[in-house]
Amino acid sequence: MEHSFESAFAYSPTIRSRAPGRIEFIGNHTDYNGGMVMGVAVDKGISIAASPRADNTIRMATSHGDAPTSADIANIQPLAGDASWCNYILGVVKAMQDEGMKTPHGFDIFVDSDLPSGAGLSSSAALELSTGWALSAMFNFPLDKATLARVGRKAENTFVGMPCGILDQGVSAFGEKDAIVRIDCAKESFTTIPMPKGLRFWVFNTMEKHNLVESLYATRHKECMDAFALLREAGCEAENLAAVAPDFVRKAKLPATLEMRALHVCEEHRRVIAMGKALDAGKVSEMGRLLCASHRSSSTLFENSTERLDALVEILGATQGVVGARLTGGGFGGAAMALTLDSFGEEQARTVCDAFEKQFGQRPSVFSAAAGAGARLCQ
Ligand code: GLA
Repeated sequence: MEHSFESAFAYSPTIRSRAPGRIEFIGNHTDYNGGMVMGVAVDKGISIAASPRADNTIRMATSHGDAPTSADIANIQPLAGDASWCNYILGVVKAMQDEGMKTPHGFDIFVDSDLPSGAGLSSSAALELSTGWALSAMFNFPLDKATLARVGRKAENTFVGMPCGILDQGVSAFGEKDAIVRIDCAKESFTTIPMPKGLRFWVFNTMEKHNLVESLYATRHKECMDAFALLREAGCEAENLAAVAPDFVRKAKLPATLEMRALHVCEEHRRVIAMGKALDAGKVSEMGRLLCASHRSSSTLFENSTERLDALVEILGATQGVVGARLTGGGFGGAAMALTLDSFGEEQARTVCDAFEKQFGQRPSVFSAAAGAGARLCQ
């Protein structure tokens, strides 16, 4: 890592930080609707080495890239094409400026990742959070985990243009070894629950690339906002869509599509609360039931699953040692996660991939994760 910074910039870095990727455990599209969500920080992520500069230049390099990309601290604009990965760094600089943490001069930053690429583990949030910690250390900004998560989300919402909630950034900020992060997105409060013994997470990626993912995500976001506005007009007093009672939604005579989106969100929010109770009580079969119900709801009501994701979840559900499985993250392609007993290992994972490949002629990528530490500065 240090060697790479040195080969890119010809001197040694002064600051190092690291932030993990995440798995969405349960709470699909509840975050930007003020609901509850749970996720796990994985033990793989993004590492940064950085050093402040005396002038106004920001230089950004990565182990996968060619020459460093430059930007001017006084005129930060989104970059297009191959350099667009830099927008997660620049967006954080901008969002921190808006919070009164004005970067006084430029810096050099080198980014390295051991997250499997395109595996649906939110490398963008990991880059935002590792950048945030590096900036706070370089320029003495007082920063806490909740502010860091908020700044990362803001970078994504206002600079990158993705209307996501706080799940990815919150989990990457508050992750802990052997713990699940629970976020109350209405209060932006973050707590952890110990990971039950004898269980682990697996992520299977369909490798299905969907060009429309970002616009479909934005469409769902808008449908949720529209549904909530209509529910308020119908006399609902809840402060966000997740808090609306499912019965109220059923009686409100919303247009059919909006009713489906709203029902998914408010029932999924309640499933996350039920998952908290199942985890506290160690009720493994109830955890499995909730995960399967979550997937069914995403697939039939929120309509963000695909034929391949449904098939993957079905194959997983029929495999020994799987407690429950569901699509994870934005959807419209991408990955499914499985909560499994320890008895589910590489051999079972191979069988799942074989069955999927037989059906679709494409082998999923597999990632088995232990819950790891959250974003941090490294010594
Ligand atoms: C993506 C977004 C998150 C969240 C999930 C769906 O991962 O970045 O904020 O909305 O989709 O739950």
